[in-house]
Formats: sequence, C-alpha cells, structure tokens
Amino acid sequence: MLHPHVHDPWYRRETLYQIYPLSWADANGDGFGDLRGIIQHLDYLNDGTAASLGIGAIWLSPIYRSPMADWGYDVADHCAVDPRFGTMADFDELVTVAHERGMKVLLDYVPNHTSVEHEWFRDARLSRQSAKRDWYIWADPAADGGPPNNWLSRFGGSAWTLDEATGQYYLHTFLAQQPDLNWRNPAVRQAMLGVLRFWLRRGVDGFRTDAVSSLLKDEQLRDDPPNPDYRPGISSPADANLRLHSSSQGGVTELLGSFCEVVAESPSGFLLSEVYANLPQLQALYGACHEHPVHAPFNFNLLALDWSAASYRSFLDAYEASLGPEDWPNYVLGNHDRPRLVERVGEERARLLVFLQFTLRGLPIIYNGDELGLHNVVKDTTISQDSAAQVLTVADFDRDAARAPMPWTAQPGGYGFTTGQPWLPAAPDSLAHNVASEERDPDSMLYLYRHLIHLRRSLGALAQGSYRSLDSGNPAVLAFVRETGPMNCYILVNFAEIPQVVKLGIIGHWVAGTHEVEGDGQLHGGGPIELAPHEARLYERRQRRN
Ligand code: GLC
Repeated sequence: MLHPHVHDPWYRRETLYQIYPLSWADANGDGFGDLRGIIQHLDYLNDGTAASLGIGAIWLSPIYRSPMADWGYDVADHCAVDPRFGTMADFDELVTVAHERGMKVLLDYVPNHTSVEHEWFRDARLSRQSAKRDWYIWADPAADGGPPNNWLSRFGGSAWTLDEATGQYYLHTFLAQQPDLNWRNPAVRQAMLGVLRFWLRRGVDGFRTDAVSSLLKDEQLRDDPPNPDYRPGISSPADANLRLHSSSQGGVTELLGSFCEVVAESPSGFLLSEVYANLPQLQALYGACHEHPVHAPFNFNLLALDWSAASYRSFLDAYEASLGPEDWPNYVLGNHDRPRLVERVGEERARLLVFLQFTLRGLPIIYNGDELGLHNVVKDTTISQDSAAQVLTVADFDRDAARAPMPWTAQPGGYGFTTGQPWLPAAPDSLAHNVASEERDPDSMLYLYRHLIHLRRSLGALAQGSYRSLDSGNPAVLAFVRETGPMNCYILVNFAEIPQVVKLGIIGHWVAGTHEVEGDGQLHGGGPIELAPHEARLYERRQRRN
C-alpha cells in the first residue's frame, strides 16, 4: 500500500542523470551494460563528497524483459527485469544503495506500445475474438488489400502491419515489433496504471514517460494530410504527412493526469514526459497535472533556438512567464535518440549551453557521456545496431551515434566499460575523453559539470532563486539574475565569437565560468566586465545582514 504524505519536490534542488543501461557499465563481461555495473559505479555519480558529480537522481532507460528490437523500448513484460540487465534482486539493491546515497531512481515508462512478444499481444493476435484483441488497434485492409490508411511509422514505412492469420492490420507508431496499445480501452488503462504502482511499491521515485504525444489516435482512423514542408529526398520519409490524426489527440492531457494521480501517491513521485514541444504545447502539458503538480514535459528548446542572446532571452522569458507557481522548468541537451551535444553545436557552444542549463531555474537533465563531451560513434551505418535506422534510411538518423559505451578509463578496447567485446564501438575520442582522465583536468567538460552541479547544491539562489532577465546593454550578451532574499547570482553569457564588454555595475564574487571554471573567487567591484568569445560567468552576491 502506498501512503500519500507530504510531497518532497527533490527535483527542485537536484540534477537528473539519464543512464542508458546497455552502455553504461558492464559487470559480467558480456559487452552489454547491466544493473550490477550501475551499482559498482554509483560513486562516480554521488559518493557524498565534492569529488563525485553530485547527482541527485538517475533515470534508467528501459530495463524490462524485452527481445531488444528497439533496445528495450519494446517491452515484453513491464514488471520483470531483462536477464541481460540482471535480476529483480539486483534492481532492489540498486534502489536501496542509490537511496542510501540520497539519489532518487526513475524508470522509463513505455505506455504507447508493447513488444510483439508481450503476452497481451500474443493473446490479441490469436483470433479476432481473443480476450485481449481490443487491447491493441486493429483494422481491416483497405479495398485494395493494403493498409487501412496512410499513417506512417515514426521509423519509416506504413504504421500498419498485416497479421496474416487473422486478416487484419495492427497499428505500430514505431517498429512493426512494437504494436500500439489501445488507450481507449479502460482495461488497458487499468493494467498500465498498475505498472506504475508496481514500481512505486518497489521504491522507485518516478518515471520518464515515453512517446506521450502518440498515446491517442483518431478513432475514425482518418488519413493524415500531406506535409507541405516535406521535401522528397531531403526530409525524412517518416515526415511525409502531418500527424494530425495519428497523434496528439485531445485526451492525452487527461491520460497524463491519471498518471500523475498515481505518481503523486508516492511522497517523492515525479513524472517527466517525452515530448518535443513548443511553448503553448508545454503549457498545456503542465496543465494536465495541476491537481497533482508532480509532472514536467521535457524542454528541448535550448537546442532549437537561433544562436543569439536576443532569441535566448525571449524564449527564456516566455517559458518562465508561461509556468504556473507549482510548475517546475527543466532543460535537456541530449538523450539516447539524438546526436551528441558537442557534435551538434561544437565544444565552445556546448560549454556555454551547459552553463546555461545549470544556472537557469529548473531541473538540469544530463544524458550520460555528454558530461565527458563525447562525440558521436562513427561507423558504417550498414552495421547499425539500431533497427529503426535500418528501416528509416536517412542520412543523419543513426541513434547508435550517441549510445557508445561509457569510457571509464583510457584503456583501449573496453575503456573500463567491459572486459569483453562492447556491443557498440567506443566513441572515437574515448582515449582523451574518459572519466579517469577528465576527473583531474580543470579544462575538461567533466570538471565544468561537476563544479556547476556542486555550486547549485551550495548556492540557494541557483537552485531555488527566482529568474529575471536583465538588459545587458550589449546585444551579444545575455544577462540574468537568480535571486533569493539574501543572495543574488548574476549570469553573463557572451553569444558572440568575439570578446564583449558588459557594464552592468555588478558587484559580487566571480565563482564560475565556462573558461575559468571556478572563476577567480575575487570580489568584483562594479566595473566593466570583459567576456571572451562564447564565455559565460557567474557572480555571486550575498546581502550583508545589519
Ligand atoms: C522514444 C524513445 C526511443 C524509442 C521510441 C519508441 O522516442 O526515446 O528510443 O525508440 O520512443 O519507444
């Protein structure tokens, strides 16, 4: 039985770290990461001292039983641990030892679909009269025998696959091995809410919810209209139509609300939902959980803006203004589906964005390996491990790129990740960018992350203070202040590739920067501040008590 009591909004103080378990740490030498590997490396995330990263919560990509067609996002049993990752006892131990270190544990909740090997789908496809038939979405062939409508899988090709034995098509928004659940069926809702409860009872503190906008589809199965911006040969074939009827239907917010109701039964419960949304959409998704404000939709927008201080200021101001008093912002710079952060923007801009991520108001979310500044895995796409990349053959779609094994040491081959053969090749820069070599290097990305995370933990204004943008008097420089009563943090960010001067009269100690990670610690007395290209700095000011 879960006992609701006072809610603990840990996510207002902490940093969340996404672990892609297959690639993080392999304890048994089979080349795949596992739960024991995670347990053995928790010190890196948080050993209670400033020598570790200072992470307050981890989110694990799926660890459930799965045939691994989509590396765990094809779930065959939501309530079992896949043997590749270990046992339920390993999982329980992980939760216990993480909690002992003050770290929360979030799981990946995959509600849109299951694996074809899930017992529900096995039953559903037995016959049209099966008890679980209506747990999935079935339709008769079109007049020509083809798919019932023009809906496209997000991974390319039709979203429908014919089940020869029963003569109907089933819907799959992703791979054919991932049939979509029918969320209009109350029995599905009940069973899937039961999955949340199952893990909350085992002590998890929340979930990242997968593919939220796909949960409901048009009941009449109307064709999607063509996408006017689609450019054959250039755009992804999966984007040929606008997903007007195949996704983002009204009712998703109500479903989210039901997830929140369950998650709120746990005192530490928190829910993040995977959406790639603009501001009005984010606002609507926050609204879904006003009764139980334990939810935030991912905010990926920092990577989608024009590169200028003005466009960042206008986005940040609008995002902040769109949030209700209970809503908590968040900033995401990478995940297991996107190219590596430094690959997308280069190292200098990556450092600047990381600086923003940790100095803005809101939960910072790190994708494992980005804290080392890792680049993409480069390899022949014909040997991709990502089934989706085999269906969707567009140039820049290869999710293996950001899934390289975590390099713990400079030891070529396994780089401390495994004693066996890693399931994916190491990132090309693992020799230089690995935990052991970066831990002590003050110029490394890891050093920057660690300093910023600990600063957030020690400066109340950074974690909890309000946000207010300032007119920096220089169009290339973004300036904002984070305030609590007794403390202010001033943040200056130079978006230009040439030095810039700011005359804001800031008085405070320079305690963090992209170029000099710890600043100079000195009191700055209010004179002009010169910023190097792409440099960001933080000045801290405490009010004197009278
Ligand atoms: C989400 C996951 C992705 C997965 C897809 C289908 O987008 O992040 O990795 O393939 O959903 O579950």
